[in-house]
Amino acid sequence: MVMTRLWNVHVNRRNAIICFGIVGLIVYRCIGIFSMQPGEMSQSRTEGLNANSSQFTLDGVALRILGGSAHYFRIPRAHWKDRLLKMKACGLNTLTTYVPWNLHEPGRGKFDFQNQLDLEAYIRLAEEVGLWVILRPGPYICSEWDLGGLPSWLLRDKDMKLRTTYPGFTGAVNSFFDELIPRVAPLQYMRGGPIIAVQVENEYGSYAKDDRYMAFIKEALLSRGIRELLMTSDNREGLKVGGLDGVLKTINFQKLNPKAIQYMDTVQPQQPKLVMEYWSGWFDLWGDLHHVFPAEDMVAVVREILKQGMSVNLYMFHGGTNFGFMSGALALTSVLRAMVTSYDYDAPLSEAGDYTPKYHGLRELLSHYHSDKLPETPALRWRKAYKAVNMNLHMPLWETLRFAEKPFISATPVNMENLPVNSGNGQSYGYTLYETTVTSGGALNSWNNVRDRALVFVDQVFIGVLDYRTVELAVPDGKGVRKLSFLVENCGRVNYGKVLDEQRKGLVGDVALNNIPLKDFTIYSLDMNPAFINRLGSMIWRSRTNAPSFPGFFQGWLQVTGTPSDTFVKLLGWSKGVVFINGRNLGRYWSIGPQQTLYLPGPWLRSGSNQVIVFEEQEAAAKLQFDANPDLGMAVDV
Ligand code: GLA
Repeated sequence: MVMTRLWNVHVNRRNAIICFGIVGLIVYRCIGIFSMQPGEMSQSRTEGLNANSSQFTLDGVALRILGGSAHYFRIPRAHWKDRLLKMKACGLNTLTTYVPWNLHEPGRGKFDFQNQLDLEAYIRLAEEVGLWVILRPGPYICSEWDLGGLPSWLLRDKDMKLRTTYPGFTGAVNSFFDELIPRVAPLQYMRGGPIIAVQVENEYGSYAKDDRYMAFIKEALLSRGIRELLMTSDNREGLKVGGLDGVLKTINFQKLNPKAIQYMDTVQPQQPKLVMEYWSGWFDLWGDLHHVFPAEDMVAVVREILKQGMSVNLYMFHGGTNFGFMSGALALTSVLRAMVTSYDYDAPLSEAGDYTPKYHGLRELLSHYHSDKLPETPALRWRKAYKAVNMNLHMPLWETLRFAEKPFISATPVNMENLPVNSGNGQSYGYTLYETTVTSGGALNSWNNVRDRALVFVDQVFIGVLDYRTVELAVPDGKGVRKLSFLVENCGRVNYGKVLDEQRKGLVGDVALNNIPLKDFTIYSLDMNPAFINRLGSMIWRSRTNAPSFPGFFQGWLQVTGTPSDTFVKLLGWSKGVVFINGRNLGRYWSIGPQQTLYLPGPWLRSGSNQVIVFEEQEAAAKLQFDANPDLGMAVDV
């Protein structure tokens, strides 16, 4: 009897709990009173991001994606958190990031997911800050990034067909995904992590060379355990051919495009609309102006997007920097146009993490889409205009060749990707020096085989530049055997367009003197990697004279007292080259602009003496100056 009563009490209590649970669940699903935060309630997750009605839902609760792109590989790691906190404080709820294959696999089978490339740590940080994540793993990412993120060693195969089901490409994608996907799969929403969606490739509609390729990438993600919502992303032109069955289509634009939006309604009626890339600004090219997109216009379009019930992702929320040699290029004509080092993008948060009028306008707008007050905006960090550094140590380029990898001897020119360096992966970035001999002067013709720009020397005396526009130079007459040298710079591989397969660099074919192809080259790979710069640094340098030799390296020491601050290197009086601080490549500078300064993150400096090395092609000032603010050049509206 007692047992029966106890049993009834137990059953009633159990029923009450079940009842309460069900009612709670209904309330939670219908009204959405609990808005799930990244990192919370990981055990109770039952359904990830769903796109089967006009609004996204996450575990049944309506979710408007308010996203922002910020790339870990363009932000010094020590600043990741600062940028993400500023994103959260702006009212965004989702971080979107690409994954650059070329940095993660610099040589075939040689992977790097450490330090600056610790993608898992970046995703975890987003979660900690309270942001969902949409992952865009490519393998092609475009993004004004060298070869759209594809590793240059793929081009060693002369038959390579990038972004197709060519086995040489799919095999390489498979091995990269074998390494990448197991790292991110556990960070998916249904496994308790912040990743709510994954993008399949990038704007394939604009490339569309192989109609089996997108299905291959989709399967490559699914078979490795990607379970969250899949999306594709296309611009207006690409939208019609882009996309995949069963994968949500999203659109990219800058100015509101009613036709594209109507089109989305026809192909995906009753599904949520996401502007995956709302271009908050634009990128810059060397020799061009700095693009800006007025804050009022940007905020007005975001306001309209939201008013129409769509979700949005700002590309970029914070652009960052194309450190090193990683910026890409455009080739809309036969002349390649290289991207600058800064990826400020005129985005809401500037390259150095400053708030801009766009940030404030956006924050005000987004505050109406939150029931709670937005977090306070994090305090800005101090930047400093350090005292100018005397660059009075010098080393001519010719004397540094002994620190490079052993030169390669070849009867004919070999493009940089196919050089036998870098453990069989070829040279990826930087400069390559091709040397041969001549016994006469005459007409030197590049036969348009210079990729992308060559400084030409006879016995180390500069005679001119060869590039896409200038294919001919006069070699002065002279006696005896003379050395003819071509210092060829890879200015960045094209990241957008149909010519990806043609992005081999260096000398990609014969060059001729008086119409006879030159032969017997000694080829030095000068990618200026950290080991090379360190070797240089430990050598004895000469004091600079009034007429230093060019191209050449210049060295000086930046003194920092106390905690280092961010700063900008100002290249006043310098012409074209690369800056290295404590061995790190800050990127290219070029007096033709628009950009006149390089961002130097404080965390890359130390208290005390900091080594500054500048590689300059043609003209060096006595000092290297610093400024607290950037100079991105003369502006023009997008
Ligand atoms: C496209 C690409 C992005 C980027 C933008 C322009 O939308 O998907 O990676 O290149 O263009 O900034």
